[in-house]
Amino acid sequence: MADVEITFALAGINRRTSSKTSWGTRDAMKYAKRGGIDATDAANNLNIWVCEIGGGILGYAQFPGGKSATDGIVIGTDYFGENTAGGIYGDGRTATHEVGHWLNLRHIWGDGGCSVDDYVSDTPISDRPNYLCPGSIEHCGTTDMTMNYMDYVQDDCMYMFSVGQNDRMRTLFGNNGGRESFVP
Ligand code: ARG
Ligand code: ZN
Ligand code: CA
Repeated sequence: MADVEITFALAGINRRTSSKTSWGTRDAMKYAKRGGIDATDAANNLNIWVCEIGGGILGYAQFPGGKSATDGIVIGTDYFGENTAGGIYGDGRTATHEVGHWLNLRHIWGDGGCSVDDYVSDTPISDRPNYLCPGSIEHCGTTDMTMNYMDYVQDDCMYMFSVGQNDRMRTLFGNNGGRESFVP
């Protein structure tokens, strides 16, 4: 278990009224000309768009190395912060998970079978996401780290990043690391 020791300071909040009830996952919310709000200086800010995504999607993120206009994370309105409307996803952990992606973490099952890795050595191999609050469960011959923020369990059953994930995230802030522009 790792304390990644990355903190964020709120730079500002931009709001725009919209009648759109479902923004989808193709970045419309990130463009003023499509009814959304343009990113603010993505080299120095983690942009978080909060809006109705639709389709049962809790959130999504852009990995390091992508376009600055779309860099950041998107969180469904009901799943942002502490929100009873979010039900079992109402404790704000979608943002934690998406920030993990934004800092280059993959899902712990690597989005594939037992031979597909998440590029982190201390998260056991798995071949699928876990949901709800499964307790001890084995896949690919090892016990899944279901309590990891990068699995799909409910918010109050995920509570950790591993040391390997910590290292993978912090590497981004080194030389040519992908998020180096955030280092003052
Ligand atoms: N499905 C989303 C993703 O893969 C978010 C999952 C967040 N899980 C949670 N328990 N809040 O990016
Ligand atoms: Zn994810
Ligand atoms: Ca692993």
